[in-house]
Amino acid sequence: MIITKPPMGWNSWNTFGEHISEQLIMETADKMVEDGYLAAGYEYLIIDDCWSLRKRGEDGRIVPDPQKFPHGMKYVADYVHSKGLKFGMYSCAGLMTCADYPGSYDHEFVDAQTFAEWGVDYLKYDYCNFPKTADCQHRYRVMSMALKATGRDILFAACNWGHHECQHWMKSAGAHTYRSTGDIFDKFSSTMWIAQDQARKLYASGPNCFNDMDMLTVGMYGKGNVGMVDPEDPTKALPTDEEYKTQFALWCAFGSPLMIGGDIRNMNAFCKELLQNERLISINQDAACNAPIVLESSEDAIVFARHMSDNSVVLGMVNGGSEPARMYMFLDEIGLPADAPYVLRGTDAFTGEDLGVISDYILGEVPAHGCRLIRATIEKK
Ligand code: GLA
Repeated sequence: MIITKPPMGWNSWNTFGEHISEQLIMETADKMVEDGYLAAGYEYLIIDDCWSLRKRGEDGRIVPDPQKFPHGMKYVADYVHSKGLKFGMYSCAGLMTCADYPGSYDHEFVDAQTFAEWGVDYLKYDYCNFPKTADCQHRYRVMSMALKATGRDILFAACNWGHHECQHWMKSAGAHTYRSTGDIFDKFSSTMWIAQDQARKLYASGPNCFNDMDMLTVGMYGKGNVGMVDPEDPTKALPTDEEYKTQFALWCAFGSPLMIGGDIRNMNAFCKELLQNERLISINQDAACNAPIVLESSEDAIVFARHMSDNSVVLGMVNGGSEPARMYMFLDEIGLPADAPYVLRGTDAFTGEDLGVISDYILGEVPAHGCRLIRATIEKK
């Protein structure tokens, strides 16, 4: 199977952790369709860790937890498919998953077969509890082969958190995406840390193997499994809409898979609109899959430009600081010297507002934890 664009969908982990159930998955499937997420491109519904019993069955197969999934996984998969969505599941290259459920180490072929029989279209494959004597590259190859052996098209989403510089070999091991970062948390410093860390690795991301920056936290507002509400002071440092705009802009501009981690059954209007913003999604799904030119990448600022398939260019400035900042980008830095007979004409990538001609530089105030994202075309002076 070949994937030409970063996959999009929803994953249970960020909000629900172990609190997953058939009912949650079916309600989420309904909402993904009713509220326009599928139409916007979010097609995978993925159940993360904690879906099985703690022990394999006597036949050696992993058993879905009957309390959480009373009708089994094929039933859930059939429901998800009946909605026009694709169905994703989770396992782990180690002996046990990160939450200590059975992992697929030495069970790759039987597990892949089980997933295929249930109708799984996507497998997230984690890296906890991995034997010290085992070889990471080899084990990802084994699962890739096991998935292929089923004869079913299953997107292989590798998740070894970037260990062993996986961007160099995950594609050849057969993965369609690779998580090259540790886990995201629902706070701005986590968003900035991931984006900064990924900026230097994006050269390896492209068709059929995309660099996965982890699931989005847009819409969580501190609640849920990776939420960061301080029980002592629940109002302290809650994520803001501005910060969610920045996260979504970065994930789109950097071409990451877009996996919603919030509860889409209860997403507010702002986040729903943000996640379904066609202009931003079209940047994420651009056919060229180019890595950005990164001009600056620190915890204070990320400044970049990205060439698009229609000859436009996306320009981005992110303010990591907690005060508004005057930020700039000289067009010379991205290949348009001041004496060139050309200028750019920009539109705001969020709103589509015409920003007119941009010559020589972009200079402007960017809100604290905010960003500017501009899509520009080149024209004669
Ligand atoms: C790891 C992964 C997370 C999630 C959890 C589940 O931490 O990186 O994305 O899948 O395991 O336990």
